[in-house]
Formats: sequence, C-alpha cells, structure tokens
Amino acid sequence: MAKNPISTNVQQAARHILAGDVIGVPTETVYGLGASIYNAEAIDNIFTLKERPRTNPLIVHISTLDQLNKLVTAIPKNAIKLAKAFWPGSLTLLLPKNETVSDYITAGKPLVAVRIPNHPLFLELLNITGPIAAPSANPFERISPTSAIHVANYFGEKLSFILDGGSCKSGIESTIVGFENNKVIVYRLGAISIEQLEEVVGEVNVNNYHQDTIVSPGMAKKHYSPITKTIVTKEIEKQIIQYQNQRIGIITFQKEIAYAGFSKQLILSKKGDLAEAAKNIYAYLHELDQHHLDVILIEPLPNIGLGRSINDRLFRANHE
Ligand code: TXA
Ligand code: MG
Repeated sequence: MAKNPISTNVQQAARHILAGDVIGVPTETVYGLGASIYNAEAIDNIFTLKERPRTNPLIVHISTLDQLNKLVTAIPKNAIKLAKAFWPGSLTLLLPKNETVSDYITAGKPLVAVRIPNHPLFLELLNITGPIAAPSANPFERISPTSAIHVANYFGEKLSFILDGGSCKSGIESTIVGFENNKVIVYRLGAISIEQLEEVVGEVNVNNYHQDTIVSPGMAKKHYSPITKTIVTKEIEKQIIQYQNQRIGIITFQKEIAYAGFSKQLILSKKGDLAEAAKNIYAYLHELDQHHLDVILIEPLPNIGLGRSINDRLFRANHE
C-alpha cells in the first residue's frame, strides 16, 4: 500500500476506483469511503474496513440526473422538486431501486439512498467512474471525518488512496428524506435544514428519533462518539464544578467559559452562525479527542435550522 496515499489527483483516484479499490473521497458534508457500485468485492471491503454491520445500507453518489434515471424505477414529484432545489448538495433521497442496484448496497431494502454531492473533485471523479457508494469514512460509531487527515488517522495504510478535497464546507452529514405517497419524511436531520426543505415542498414529517421504527440504521442512538467521555449540557458552569481539578474540554456555541483549572476550549461560532458551527463541530471533536482529557463538555445549540441537526449529533455523542 502507498505510504502517503493523500493526493488531489483525480485521474489517479479514478484508476483506483476502476481497479476495485476502496478509497477516501471528499464531499461537501463529510469524507466518504468510496467504491464502485458495480464491484461487489470492493463494496464488501467497505463494510469490513468500517466494521459496519452489513444490514446498514450505503448511499450511492452520482454526478448527473441521467445516472439517477438508470438506478431507480420511479421519482415522486416532490423528489424532483427537492433535487432541483438542492442538488448538487447535501440532500439524500430514498427512491425505489431497479435491478442494477445490488442488494449488498441497500442491505436488501427496496429503496436506494442517492445524492449528487457538491464537491468539484468528487464530481469530476464520478464523471469518470460512474456511481460510487460511500458511507462516511469513520469506523462504526466514531466521529465522521471532515478532512483527509482525519481519514488517514482512522484508516492509515489500509487505504491505497485518499482524494484530498480540503476541509468539508458543510461539516455534517447530508439530510436523508424518503417519500410516502409524495409526502416528504425526514429520516436523518443533516446539512439541509427542515426549514429549507419546507420552503420547497411545504410541511414535512420528521421521523428521526424513533428507534423502534428505524428505517435508516444511522439513526441508532449511539453514534458519532468521541473516545473521551462526552457530556452535552445546558449548564456547563455547573458541570465544571463536578470536574474540578480534572482536564476538561469545552465546546460552546459563542461564549468563553471561565475556568481556573486545565481546560481546552473551542468556540463553534463567535458570531453565532449555525452554518459555521456545523462546519466546525466534528473537527473540534476530533481535536479534543486527541488531548487525553477526562471529559468533554458541550453546550447544545439553539434548536432551529442547522442547530437542530447539530444537536441531534451531539445527543448521539453524549455518553450519559
Ligand atoms: O453526507 C453524507 O450523507 C455522507 C457522505 C459521504 O455522502 N455519507 C454518509 O453515509 O453519511 P453513512 O453511511 O455514514 O450514512 C448513511 C445513512 C445510514 O444511516 C444508512 O442507514 C442510511 O443512510 N441509508 C442508506 N441507504 C439506505 C436505504 N436504502 N434505506 C434506508 N436508509 C438508508
Ligand atoms: Mg456515518
């Protein structure tokens, strides 16, 4: 395997995909572990590398609507509206698959998750290789990566290549929606907010929290976790007293916290911009996780727009 597999060379990335490798791919949301949807062995390797249960299906990434038509049997009207509004971008649609999409990608489900990502290098790659299946490039239940270095830290020489597309602009995963008789249902909150969706299709249903009716296994509660004990709390000052004399990591939305002992503090967005907070959240968790802290305390964000999506991730990272 290559010693330093991180590169911006799309042609080289394409050669790896066409040879049946799994490689790191950049998207505007988080990095993915990508393989050609037409190579069963490569897809199987994704699950092995991620230690991901094979019952948890993968998102298929495409670069054109023409490719979409070749993968699905029907596209509800609202799906077309949403695709027009948000693609290329951070919205994944669940649509009925045709026979060209194998069961090993959808875990035997009749629907395939599909999106056109908004990243120039990845789009260039997809134009050469055709559809690429890619889950987020983190081991199962760990924090998603938002830079090529994060991917290398997780998988090192197990990957022959990581396409370096810089740090991810959105910073949290795509929003996943499905359709019941054209009615839009949100299965995973993400980088496109509920408010943005509702501007295009009117009121949507949200089915993000109910574990007993998991459609999208990524909804499982324990997910996106740092190794360090992590507590999400509105009362950081009070929690700090509990952890006196310990090494504390603190992530707040806008404000600085006074603490006399050792702390490593990061502020998501001094100016209170939720998009900036989303871009920073995983990178901050990766960073704090490297400091051998006793605990990471995180303040939840205002529960609107992207704040709601970020809070969803934070509560899944919560160790209590
Ligand atoms: O932003 C993103 O969506 C990133 C980038 C790489 O595109 N990908 C990503 O993939 O977050 P992953 O595998 O970490 O999360 C995809 C979620 C999983 O929870 C999976 O269960 C769900 O999508 N999913 C995929 N295919 C599905 C299907 N056919 N039916 C229901 N849920 C599906
Ligand atoms: Mg993931």
